[in-house]
Amino acid sequence: MNSNPSSCDLAWIRDSIRKNSLRLVIASCLVAVALAGTPLLAVGPAPVSPRERISIDDDWRFTKGDPTNSESFRGLLYDVRPGQTLRRFTAEADGNATMNESDGANESTNPPAVIKQWILPTGNEFIKDPARRFVRPEGNPGDGVAYVQPDFDDGSWQKINLPHDWAIAGPFTRSGGGGMGRLPTAGVGWYRKQLSISAADAGKSIFLDVDGAMSYATVWLNGRLVGGWPFGYASWRVNLTPFVKFGGQNELVIRLDNPPNSSRWYPGAGIYRNVWLVKTSPVHVGHWGTYLTTPEVSPASATVNLKVTVDNDSRRNSNVGVATEIYSLNSNGRKIGRAVASLAPLYLQISSHDHAVAEGKTTVVHPKLWGPPPTQKPNRYVAVTTVSQDGKVVDVYETPFGIRTLKFDPDKGVFVNGEHLDLKGVCDHHDLGALGAAFNTRAAQRQLEMLQAMGCNALRTSHNPPAPELLDLADQMGFLVMDESFDVWFRQKTPLDFHLIFADWHEQDLRAHLRRDRNHPSVIMWSIGNEVGEQFTFGSGAAVAKKLVNIVREEDPTRPTTTAMNWAQPTNPFTATVDLIGLNYQGAGIRGVPGQYPAFHEQFPDKMIFGSETASALSSRGEYVFPVTTNISAAVGPNSGEDRARRQVSAYELYAAAFGSSADKVFASQEKNPYVGGEFVWTGWDYLGEPTPFDASRSSYSGIIDLAGFKKDRFYLYQAYWRPDLPMAHILPHWTWPERLGHVTPVHVFTSGDEAELFLNGKSLGRKKKAQYEYRLRWDDVVYQPGTLKVVAYKNGKRWATDDVKTAGEPAALKIEPDRSEICADGRDLSFVAVTVTDKKGVTVPPADNRIHFEITGPGEIVATDNGDPTSFESFPSHDRNAFNGLCLAIVRGKPGKEGKIRLTAKADGLKAETVSIKTTWNSNKYDSLIADIANRRH
Ligand code: GAL
Repeated sequence: MNSNPSSCDLAWIRDSIRKNSLRLVIASCLVAVALAGTPLLAVGPAPVSPRERISIDDDWRFTKGDPTNSESFRGLLYDVRPGQTLRRFTAEADGNATMNESDGANESTNPPAVIKQWILPTGNEFIKDPARRFVRPEGNPGDGVAYVQPDFDDGSWQKINLPHDWAIAGPFTRSGGGGMGRLPTAGVGWYRKQLSISAADAGKSIFLDVDGAMSYATVWLNGRLVGGWPFGYASWRVNLTPFVKFGGQNELVIRLDNPPNSSRWYPGAGIYRNVWLVKTSPVHVGHWGTYLTTPEVSPASATVNLKVTVDNDSRRNSNVGVATEIYSLNSNGRKIGRAVASLAPLYLQISSHDHAVAEGKTTVVHPKLWGPPPTQKPNRYVAVTTVSQDGKVVDVYETPFGIRTLKFDPDKGVFVNGEHLDLKGVCDHHDLGALGAAFNTRAAQRQLEMLQAMGCNALRTSHNPPAPELLDLADQMGFLVMDESFDVWFRQKTPLDFHLIFADWHEQDLRAHLRRDRNHPSVIMWSIGNEVGEQFTFGSGAAVAKKLVNIVREEDPTRPTTTAMNWAQPTNPFTATVDLIGLNYQGAGIRGVPGQYPAFHEQFPDKMIFGSETASALSSRGEYVFPVTTNISAAVGPNSGEDRARRQVSAYELYAAAFGSSADKVFASQEKNPYVGGEFVWTGWDYLGEPTPFDASRSSYSGIIDLAGFKKDRFYLYQAYWRPDLPMAHILPHWTWPERLGHVTPVHVFTSGDEAELFLNGKSLGRKKKAQYEYRLRWDDVVYQPGTLKVVAYKNGKRWATDDVKTAGEPAALKIEPDRSEICADGRDLSFVAVTVTDKKGVTVPPADNRIHFEITGPGEIVATDNGDPTSFESFPSHDRNAFNGLCLAIVRGKPGKEGKIRLTAKADGLKAETVSIKTTWNSNKYDSLIADIANRRH
């Protein structure tokens, strides 16, 4: 065996992964390496932990809808929902959220039986006051329902692997509102899976960990109701132990029930994140049972405080020892070298069916700090906690973490490790475009890579807890995260949204979110809510906010709280409840009121202010609408940036939602108020749903990057501002306008330089310099003639960067470019393949909308196609799709376990086809880091 742990025998690992025993593989790998006498683990073989965290994503059966031959499923409703009037949600995004909890009263005269009393106890561990905890009633809802029964024959159900989004394949619907993305998310979905649990596991505790299921999940094992969790963005655990048949097959059944009118964007549908089976000794580290903080950090040393909650599920009281060692991690998440610090063993006495907390501290000498690139590095450590009982190791639990200091200065903004940094952030929803809500690590990584290339250093998880792996990626890549819990509290934004369960579940959901995420160095602040309706209620809204803030302080006093406010005024008591003032749109100006940063700064001289949501600039990639406004920002409208007939918005990047502002105007508002800590742009990527200003479309116009992952011009506007040291220049619009011969066609340039000269067919159109608070250079009177536009940008008087655009001829060929030509054969890794329509000289044909047909051979499949057009109703799995402004995308996945060459061909009538090959292999670097991703989170 090779002594380098990053190249442990791949075939062996592969086979073990197939057998779903990753934990053992990693543990054994480390043991094997240590035994081979390498210096990897100088402290000796890693103890083999009885803890197993097994991926159970594969081989599920799925069907939509409840059984038709059984009436008793009616008793499976979580709760009575208020009359489903299917009222369309038409409120303005910055409008007043209205309804409160009393409006959600039961409107039915003959209410069906509901099961919430059986579900609520699942959240008990997150309810602080024992008197408020729930007691499970007698009985077993689901008893009479065929799909719940262990012997039900699900052979005719669809075979699927998780993560799964049942709605993403469509079809799109043209009726109703566009808010939720026009895809069939509403309704019931059933999942079944057989779990073989060996007799040797008898006596262990067995848990099901669900990273996210949309929504209202109910879980049965072997026909017995186990529990569930309604909030679709939560990660949660149910204890299967009392229901397990050891030494046999166990039938796991999950029912989801997604309401209509429950979201302002596309929520997705199904078990859309990873799912794990966790087996532990009866005495083990509790659920998200470690909490690690670094209260003192200096170049010489860092103090590490660690609290470990140990559960005793056994029938006898136990004495246990808890010891921890700390190691450095490499960039792939692997332990390197010797332990750099350790916490001496702490001893606990834990009564039967109780828990106890061990708390200790240690020092890391000369800590390598975690911080965002390009000026800092996201260095990480891992705390390896070993729990022993009677001299035997009963659990080993890993907590990756980072050491860093944060300061939020009311006058100067954000400091990370003493360095001043502006938050150059974006808000993003959880969907992954054509893949829907079904989480995929590579797709998320691609999103973050593109954002980082733009200079983005911060993410806001609008408006709910993200997939856990997103935060792993943020830790690895060095993003600063505003981690957000809720979009609504008591007051609704859509008729069947989270407000229905807020009263019962806010404490459990918030504590669960905080405990899950509080060890991530990337998380720098907690947002308790986005534009919640309670902003409008003064005293009573402030009371709810205070309650939530107190919960945050109990769970994590190390990070500040915030809430994203588009309405609350400086004097509203609501505003004063949080530590950081997060303003949505109010900073640059909203509803005719000019920028309000100064008013908030004056009222809160001791709180940092930042733009929690900015811009809402709108555009469609490659669409240019004339005439072009001469302002730096304009509200989009019928004669202002809109192409109504085609439902597209101009990409001159000057137009915004009525309550928003162009990027340029936001930059100016921040520079004029230098105490502002930075911004989170609405949005980094386009998302499904909320297609303002054209409700008839399927997806948003607000992304800097379109839904398929193609850059809009706006990408370069941000890059120019956020990466001032990167020599770059970008011209817009494209230069293929046969119908504009002789017409004024403004040319704008985004550059990190300060000056530029524009040339049309070699003739100078003048050299221009950016004035203060100007972020683009514009030649608004250029008369179109075909040919070449070229810009030469300067910085401090020196030549800095160039760009050119050429007039294209007729479409002649297709150019096909995968983002990666080698992917891992794990059945999850992806290659994103871009297809460009070019003329015969290879120049991109900007308006091309040729219909492209994809064909694939070899060990791969086309998962989805897209073109970034918000008006396209082609279903995502289709292998045929029109190019949109010259571009089209196919997403290719390797078949699990099959190495080889995938060949993808793009064809279009009258155009030269092209084929690309993509290798799928186990022996790829990507594979290595995927292993690390999973290994990081093996508890
Ligand atoms: C904001 C809101 C976002 C989104 C956006 C639309 O007010 O917080 O969720 O709706 O408007 O541009």
